[in-house]
Amino acid sequence: MKGGERDLNTKDRILKMLAENKGRFISGEQISEELGISRTAVWKHILKLREEGHRIQSVNRLGYQLVNSGDVYDRGTILSRLNTKILGKNLYFYETIDSTNNELKKMAAEGACEGTVVIALCQTEGRGRRGRRWQSDAGSGIYMSVLLKPDLPPTAVQSITLLASSAVCKVLEKYVKSGLGIKWPNDILINNKKVCGILTEMTSEPDKVQAIILGIGLNVWNREEDFGDELKHTATSLCLNTDREISRTQLVVEILKELEDLYLNFVEKGSSAKFMDIWRCFSVTIGRDIIVIQGENRWQAKALDVLDDGRLLVETPDGKRQTVLSGEISIRSCDN
Ligand code: BTN
Repeated sequence: MKGGERDLNTKDRILKMLAENKGRFISGEQISEELGISRTAVWKHILKLREEGHRIQSVNRLGYQLVNSGDVYDRGTILSRLNTKILGKNLYFYETIDSTNNELKKMAAEGACEGTVVIALCQTEGRGRRGRRWQSDAGSGIYMSVLLKPDLPPTAVQSITLLASSAVCKVLEKYVKSGLGIKWPNDILINNKKVCGILTEMTSEPDKVQAIILGIGLNVWNREEDFGDELKHTATSLCLNTDREISRTQLVVEILKELEDLYLNFVEKGSSAKFMDIWRCFSVTIGRDIIVIQGENRWQAKALDVLDDGRLLVETPDGKRQTVLSGEISIRSCDN
């Protein structure tokens, strides 16, 4: 026991445990075992703490989480601050879900309208690109999917992906002083570690998009030790890189607003100039020596530019220029 802790009463010790686990849920069982009290007693102390004004969220099967007064994160609070025309007008907020992309895909198949948004506190089967898993612990991040139905050909999907990473960067630059960048096509990095990933999925007719599901995963409250062995050298979170107060609600509201502005500009004017300027400004890819990874295939190149349709223009060591439409890259000397 650390000095002074002995003097805390049970209620304050619960508050301390919650504060030490900011961004995470702790179960009633864990608290009751650690303090040697019943779960009913834990619950009564939680009620008392709430009466005192502490914001403590309780979620079935997950337990309790201390929420910053500025980080109240629920559907009502998001809607009360949202100032968009279409994005989020239909907004579903789940405590736990398999994947917000899966859920929104089902809704799209049943005719959900453009701008429908699905958010979850935690995902049990959060999916990343290329069949990877997306770590989606309760309370640590933003897990959000947005339904878009542009009247565009299926090839536009790559542009929408770049548009989304540009929108997220515009928001994050208010929080992060240096080191913010986008790695082609849409990994958002802070000092070469990934803070946000975007999974874009589409259903289409041969020449027209039916629905685009834009899934955004943003690491917000994760501490270094929350990332397992697989991620600890390559992932980071917003709270590890900002001095500003963070509110997931505010981040969601700002991301939806930026996304909508860039999206409407793109579909109404038919020009990708606005979001491509932002994308290029944050690019950590252009001008770098890279390895292109396409399935089992890996080859070296230099990244020259990103074209407005999202393809990466590269030059191979023998001087040939070509474009890369899909795949993944590794930037040499920064292996994300
Ligand atoms: C990536 O691999 O970079 C993309 C990660 C995308 C994760 C988000 S979280 C919300 C949405 N639901 C999912 O299952 N995946 C996306």
